[in-house]
Amino acid sequence: MKQFCVLVSGGGTNLQRLIDECENGSIPAGICAVISSKKGVYALERAAKHNIPAVTVARKDYGSKEEYDKALLSAIDNTKPDFLVLAGYINILSPGIIKKYQNKIINIHPALIPSFCGKGYYGVKVHQAALEYGVKVSGATVHFVDEGTDTGPIIFQKSVPVYQDDTPETLQQRVLEVEHELLPRAVKLLAADRIFVRGRRVSIMEE
Ligand code: GRF
Repeated sequence: MKQFCVLVSGGGTNLQRLIDECENGSIPAGICAVISSKKGVYALERAAKHNIPAVTVARKDYGSKEEYDKALLSAIDNTKPDFLVLAGYINILSPGIIKKYQNKIINIHPALIPSFCGKGYYGVKVHQAALEYGVKVSGATVHFVDEGTDTGPIIFQKSVPVYQDDTPETLQQRVLEVEHELLPRAVKLLAADRIFVRGRRVSIMEE
């Protein structure tokens, strides 16, 4: 059974869905480890509650970006993952990691890429920008991670309506529900080798 590593930076609601769906057998794979970019985040508590090995690799603990990148790569390699899932992870992975795990890293972004994505667009800031722009729909995207920021081939997207009285928080909550649906679906298909990438186009062999 394939094993995957989940990279987190915050509350871990996406991680929790992956834990639940691995435990109930809906995802035919296992979480070999959780790697957090920050100490003390609730995602680490979630991992501990389910006896999933977890480590924190925080940029501020390393003198240089090179040392940090090296430490992160070795933390990932040590868990011997078949693929990686970024679930609320806000750091940019080094080209070395991307190359080593080419088309084996997926990310969940809380907007319909290519809207409201790229450098600085994470968490509630994404929804603030969507409301300021005045969009009528937003949503979530699961995509492969490449050398860019939120630029890899798209696997799934799903839209949600934006209401006149929305705040960034109410929109974030509505989008989060869609994230919790799309990410486990993508992980399940990736674990079953049912996702195929040709250039920018992704095709799925649904069950
Ligand atoms: C969410 O806003 C999600 O869109 C983004 O990271 C944030 C935290 O997610 N990917 P989680 O609750 O830590 O999974």
